[in-house]
Amino acid sequence: MRSADQVVRAPDLLRMKRGGERIAMLTAYDFTMARHLDRAGVDVLLVGDSLGMVVLGQSNTLSVTLDAIAHHTAAVSRAVSRALVVADMPFLSCHTGIGDAVRGAGRLVSEAGAHAVKVEGGHQVLEVVQRLVEAGIPVMGHLGLTPQSIHQIGGFRKQARDAAEARKLLESAHALQAAGAFAIVLELIPDQVAAEVTQSLELPTIGIGAGPCCDGQVLVSHDAFGLYDEFTPSFVKRFAELGQQMTAAAKDYVREVREGEFPAARKKVLSGHYSD
Ligand code: KIV
Repeated sequence: MRSADQVVRAPDLLRMKRGGERIAMLTAYDFTMARHLDRAGVDVLLVGDSLGMVVLGQSNTLSVTLDAIAHHTAAVSRAVSRALVVADMPFLSCHTGIGDAVRGAGRLVSEAGAHAVKVEGGHQVLEVVQRLVEAGIPVMGHLGLTPQSIHQIGGFRKQARDAAEARKLLESAHALQAAGAFAIVLELIPDQVAAEVTQSLELPTIGIGAGPCCDGQVLVSHDAFGLYDEFTPSFVKRFAELGQQMTAAAKDYVREVREGEFPAARKKVLSGHYSD
């Protein structure tokens, strides 16, 4: 069993799968939150392009740039002493040539401190995955609902719902494994398909809306902790309501400032009892 202070690196996820140890992954985008999540023993922190939605207020992930991922990854890396930091390769960063992809991923590792990158897609990204792995950059795959293809898919919809699609996804998963990926995120696919993929692969699967049989689970932290309420996918479990707590705390602050209760010394100064 991996103890809370043992660092997690890409090869450890395979060892965890083999040892029957489940992998806990969450997203992080800034120093403070990453620090709390790392202290809690989260195994993998993903600097996801979901930052476009939950941090920047965009309606999808497509406008997130490599610069933005690098900026947020650097903040997360500074906070972390145990977790594996995975940086998302954003929209188009793997589709304008192998050189661009290797340079981009290399920047996330060398400048921003990521330990690995995540690449969305199956057969269309295999060569990129292979070249990144050859360059010494561990790659996490991402199949099922791939939000960077949202316009092609037509919305945030469940994938691999019929036998042909499920077979294609299974083939893509095996192709990613052969290309050298160290883990695969399975997003919004039927539980049964995720279970079959997980059983047939050597490398670990990490599910989001893909049922209980994956080797690990990932959630967007802002969903899991109730910070983002524009839209909550049905598979999300709220582990806290930090958004409501923050609003209540901010209301207390506003009231105390308006009523002169905070800072407490104000009343003392006005009544002539200030002694500091
Ligand atoms: O960007 C992200 O947060 C992700 C997770 C949903 C897996 O890709």
